[in-house]
Order: sequence, then structure tokens, then C-alpha cells
Amino acid sequence: MRASSTGEIDADRLWSRLSELAEIGKSEGGGVTRLSFTEEEWAAKDLVASYMREAGLAVREDAAGNLIGRREGRVEDAPVVLTGSHVDSVRNGGDFDGPLGALGAVEALQTMDERGVETERPVEVVAFTDEEGARFSFGMIGSRATAGTLTPEHLANEDENGVSIAEAMRASGLDPGRIDEVARAPGSVYAYVELHIEQGRILESKNLPVGVVTGIAGPAWLRFTLAGEAAHAGTTPMNLRRDALAAAAEVIGRIEREAARTGTSVGTVGQLDLSPGGINIVPGQVSFSLDLRDIDEDVRDDVEARIMHEAALLCEKRDVELETKTLQRLPPAPCSALVQDAAREACETLGFEPFGLASGAGHDGMHLTELCPIGMIFVRSKDGLSHNPAEYSSKDDCTAGAEVLYRTLLKLAGET
Ligand code: GLV
Ligand code: MN
Ligand code: MN
Repeated sequence: MRASSTGEIDADRLWSRLSELAEIGKSEGGGVTRLSFTEEEWAAKDLVASYMREAGLAVREDAAGNLIGRREGRVEDAPVVLTGSHVDSVRNGGDFDGPLGALGAVEALQTMDERGVETERPVEVVAFTDEEGARFSFGMIGSRATAGTLTPEHLANEDENGVSIAEAMRASGLDPGRIDEVARAPGSVYAYVELHIEQGRILESKNLPVGVVTGIAGPAWLRFTLAGEAAHAGTTPMNLRRDALAAAAEVIGRIEREAARTGTSVGTVGQLDLSPGGINIVPGQVSFSLDLRDIDEDVRDDVEARIMHEAALLCEKRDVELETKTLQRLPPAPCSALVQDAAREACETLGFEPFGLASGAGHDGMHLTELCPIGMIFVRSKDGLSHNPAEYSSKDDCTAGAEVLYRTLLKLAGET
């Protein structure tokens, strides 16, 4: 279905900003790497801040490093409508995961400015700090701070070089002792709506450019550490080995099987380290990550319990010690009727089918559910690819998403 001729945003401007932002942290192979509190993330925020100023927004940065651009409403002290996304990325990621929501929101507010639109409520675009969790295996730092749930223990999480979040903040000139100041007061936020690429294949399979998100699957992130015994690969008989990698391989096989059994859960081992790592040494120690998700928390937790049970048995059989640690665990987050209805109405006005779908990926809104009604608008992803340099959404589809966001914001902010 195509949009009728009611498009208002500047499609060329949005596309050229997306292209410019995509150059920051881009490797020769085309992948984008912008880890949190690095030069690349700050450069991306600086560029977005310049666009915010062009859009006539009042720009500030909070103590978590969240970049915020504000457009005032007509009613003094009215609760604010939040929109935006993130500009950090995974390692070797794509051009659209995060930037579309941040730049689509700036575009929507710039369009309001250029059209002389007034709203009752103020609207703020936020580029949240570290949504991805790629650096510290712990993410959504800026949105947790906004919700008032980021704790000193969270700030102790370390990256692979042993640098904690608190240290990384200090190195960026931020004071972790002031993190409490970032929390928004209860009642001060009217709603949060985020534009994002789908990162899956549903919209493409339905031949739809946009969709309205009904809820966000809950991720549990864990680290498994298996300790066996390093030994000589030539002299240690197979029946006397305590091979940590062979045990890990069996556990990973069970993870795949248990997640697949449900038909809805997804389980991924994306990081694996082994030591000592010699061609002629039986691996003595292995650690790997697990990312496990489902839109139904009970189903996810049941899969997790089965994996734990199987892993314990498999390791015991091989005389390998097993330790597991939970890195982060979020419940699934339903999207509010308020934001879904506004987004559906926006789709209908523009001639798009208001198709509802769940998000498999995690998003900052998950942390804001206690603070305000949340919701999201998705844009079709080519081949469903994301967290990959080939991630792509067409200019037309990005434009469609930004148009839907613009109208959703008008509705939520109360166009007068
Ligand atoms: C973020 O993209 C996540 O879902 O892990
Ligand atoms: Mn994202
Ligand atoms: Mn992502």
C-alpha cells in the first residue's frame, strides 16, 4: 500500500542525514562500530546535536550523556512527549539501527517548526546513551537512567579491557555520582514513541512499509563459564579428558534445541572465549554468552530452566565445573494502547495498513514502561537483516516511517 499525497516531512533531508551519520565509525568493509562513551558515539551525538539546532530545538546533555533536543508546547508545565532512539551500534553493525529513530524524530520536529505547528505539550528528542550493550554486555544505560533504575552496581559492569561504565563515564567528562539527576519525575512524561527498523522479516513478507509495535520481547543475557583441565592433546586419552570446549559444544547444542522447541523463543551464543587456545592443548576453560528471548516471560524462563538443568548434567558427566552469571534480564514490555492507537490512526491517515507486530529486538522503551505509556513504529528491513553491515531500509520506507512518527507525535502532543 502506498501513502497518499499527504507527506509532509523532507525525505531528502532525512536520507542525507542518515547517510552522513552512517559515515561515523564506518570501516572499509562498510560495517559501523560506535561503542558507548567512545569518540565515535560522541561524534555521532555531536552531529545529531547540530541537526537538532537546525531544527530549532533547545539542545542539552544530561548526566548520563543522553542528548536531548526540546521543542516547547503551548501549555506551561505540561508533561513532555519523548521520542528518539540511540546512535551507538554493535560491532560491525548497520546504518539504520538507532539512527533512523533519532533522525526521524528530529525531522518530525523540524517539520512542525517549518509548518508553524503548535502543540499543547512539549516534545523532546532523545539520543539515548548505549542502547546496544555491545561494550559492557549491559545496555540501555541512558534509558535506565531516565527511568531512575540505573544503580551503582550496574555502573560496575566492565568492558573487555576491565574499564567499568563509571570509569568510561568519567573519561568522557561525566560524573557517575550525578546519575540520579537524570531520572524523570513520575507524571512528567506523557508518552514515549520510537521509530525503528523492524530488524526482522515480517513487514517484508506482508509487503508493508511500516507497522505498529504491540510489544517487545524480553531478553535474558547470561555468561557461562566452564572449567575443565588443560592437557596435552597428544598424550591425554579421550576418556581421561576434562575438555571444557567439548562440554560447551554440547551445552550450546542443547540451547539451540530447547529454544527451537517452543517455536517462539530465540537463543543465541554470540561470544565464546577459550583458553589456553593452543592447537595441541585440550581446552581448559571456556566462557560463552547466552542471549535468550521470548515475548512470553514464562516461556523464556522455562527454556532457561531447562537449559540450566541440561547444562549441569552435561558438565557433571564430563567432570567440568560450570558457573553461570546473569548479566541482564528484562521482562517483555507491552506497548500501550495510547501510543498504538495514535500510530494506527497516523497509518490510516497516510493510507498505510495499521499492521501490528511484536519486536524481537530490545529497545530503550522497555525501561520506560513504569514512567509512561510507550510504543514504537517499525519500518521494513530488507531481508530482515540487522546487526550486519548489509542492514538496509529504503528511502521510501524510512520516509513512510518518519511520516507516521510525525503524525503520531502531533496526536500525542496535542496539535492545536
Ligand atoms: C539490541 O539491538 C538488542 O535487541 O539486543
Ligand atoms: Mn536499536
Ligand atoms: Mn541493535
